[in-house]
Amino acid sequence: PRPILLTRHGESRDNVRGRIGGDTVISDSGELYAKKLANFVEKRLKNERAASIWTSTLQRTILTASPIVGFPKIQWRALDEINAGVCDGMTYEEIKKNMPEEYESRKKDKLRYRYPRGESYLDVIQRLEPVIIELERQRAPVVVISHQAVLRALYAYFADRPLKEIPHIEMPLHTIIEIRMGVTGVQEKRYKLMD
Ligand code: F6P
Repeated sequence: PRPILLTRHGESRDNVRGRIGGDTVISDSGELYAKKLANFVEKRLKNERAASIWTSTLQRTILTASPIVGFPKIQWRALDEINAGVCDGMTYEEIKKNMPEEYESRKKDKLRYRYPRGESYLDVIQRLEPVIIELERQRAPVVVISHQAVLRALYAYFADRPLKEIPHIEMPLHTIIEIRMGVTGVQEKRYKLMD
């Protein structure tokens, strides 16, 4: 069965500063991951002519995909990171200090909590529906380069994890999660390309 490769973008400047959201470029370490990922993908999908690379519309995923050659790249707005609304660009510390009620409500119910003028995990799950339909329809492998919250939701769908766990699933940087859907169920492999 065709694999789906899920990965977060390489470390971004905002990841380094602990800022959520934004649209920064990737760090030196993120650039290194992009090269390693390209190497991995080119080897892994060598004879897969119909494979494609899907990214969000944010710079950090597009830059992470850029060293990969030989496959078509498709940008999806639906793969953009959860919209943190008024909190976009803040650190968790700043939210806790300046907007303690928001911080507490999110902690209490991370799945349903919607950032003011932004999104909740449930919103993200809903907007991913067309992406999931298209992924299911693909016969060839797909590499999805996206973001923490979005990948939690996509992964949970394929790995059949309960809704309430989604916001808490571990989704480390610089790691590829390979998913294969077979007759016996879903098989998963992880490749940690760097720390
Ligand atoms: O910190 C990286 C990031 O992708 C942010 O842009 C985003 O708001 C966050 O992760 C989502 O993770 P959580 O739901 O745990 O805050």
